Amino acid sequence: MTERTSVLIAGNSRSEQAVRQKRPDAKIVGVLKDLALVEYVSSEMIVDEIVIDGQMAPRGETLEQWISRYNKAFPQVSVTVVGENPGQGISQPSATKVITSQTVVVWSPKGGVGKTFISANLACAAAMATQGKAVLLDLDVCSGDVATYLDLADGPTIVEMLPELPRLRPDGLDRYTQKHASSRLNVICSPRRPEFSNLISVEHVRHLLSLAARRWGLLYVDTAPDITSDILGEVIEAASAVVLVITQDVCALRQGKVALDIFGKLGIQEESVHIVLNRGSKDAPISESKVEEYLEKRLAAVVPDDRKTVEKSVFQGRPVTLSSRTEIASAIWRLLSGISPGLPLPDTEKRQKKTRRLRFW
Ligand SMILES: Nc1ncnc2c1ncn2[C@@H]1O[C@H](COP(=O)(O)OP(=O)(O)O)[C@@H](O)[C@H]1O
Ligand SMILES: [Mg+2]
Repeated sequence: MTERTSVLIAGNSRSEQAVRQKRPDAKIVGVLKDLALVEYVSSEMIVDEIVIDGQMAPRGETLEQWISRYNKAFPQVSVTVVGENPGQGISQPSATKVITSQTVVVWSPKGGVGKTFISANLACAAAMATQGKAVLLDLDVCSGDVATYLDLADGPTIVEMLPELPRLRPDGLDRYTQKHASSRLNVICSPRRPEFSNLISVEHVRHLLSLAARRWGLLYVDTAPDITSDILGEVIEAASAVVLVITQDVCALRQGKVALDIFGKLGIQEESVHIVLNRGSKDAPISESKVEEYLEKRLAAVVPDDRKTVEKSVFQGRPVTLSSRTEIASAIWRLLSGISPGLPLPDTEKRQKKTRRLRFW
């Protein structure tokens, strides 16, 4: 038996009538006149799609802002807005708007928690989802590992770019960019030796971020832990999303909490911070729910501890997201769709997502 699409309507009886006419196969799970209620219901029951009457007015924001917030919170639900005129009818479910420009900074105040692993895999997944329209910048300028994770140890690095940078046009970046062949990810590697890191100034970083945003749209940035570094400050300022990587240990959590506090003071919006629990394990004394309770924030993803898969992937320079058969790869694909709703997931991930949700219920 094929499953019917569960549709939640934000509108009135006329919107309901229009949906019933145009989509007789749909299962209407409710008609609500308040968008705040739509959010609440979406978190409490399975909804595949919401249909919104274009005249709905959310409190304190535009309908467009509300939809963008909703998309982030419920990336699995597709959103359709119907015209003001009921005669216009309902369009087929549109995919959520595809994100084409974003600067995602992967950071943690602690070293060794998995920043490079997460950034390399997230960026590869994004490149695969966009046919190569993503770049990973390794701005851990003293001890960058991206080249090792992606097996790109021999090509150009940021250092060769520096003398040219002030005169460079966006497409000029290509000369200093390496291509990760299997994912089509563009990569700008950090200096091969730590003594070259002193050559990189904040102005260089600012200019590079701006050129790369114009050249590729989707930027992923790997970073060093030092919160006092000017380079990190510049990168965080340019970020549209920050992925804060933590692990289930007391020090990482304590420092993660301090980082959240600093983000708040810097005026970084809470919804642009995504906490990722890396090396997650059910056996850890500090459970996932305790972590959330302590940080007072929901985890965006839990990436399981899987030493064998990760070490093999690093050894081969082949990100786990290239083959989506492991739980660890699925977790990263889900993280990608949480941060960038609308980017297409591989079919296997879509199926897994649905099964997981249904099983939960
Ligand atoms: N989910 C994971 N499961 C098992 N090992 C992991 C996982 N994530 C990272 N690692 C390992 O942890 C170590 C540190 O990861 P890395 O990404 O280099 O950290 P960072 O960039 O924060 O210093 C590496 O040896 C890596 O292979
Ligand atoms: Mg690193």
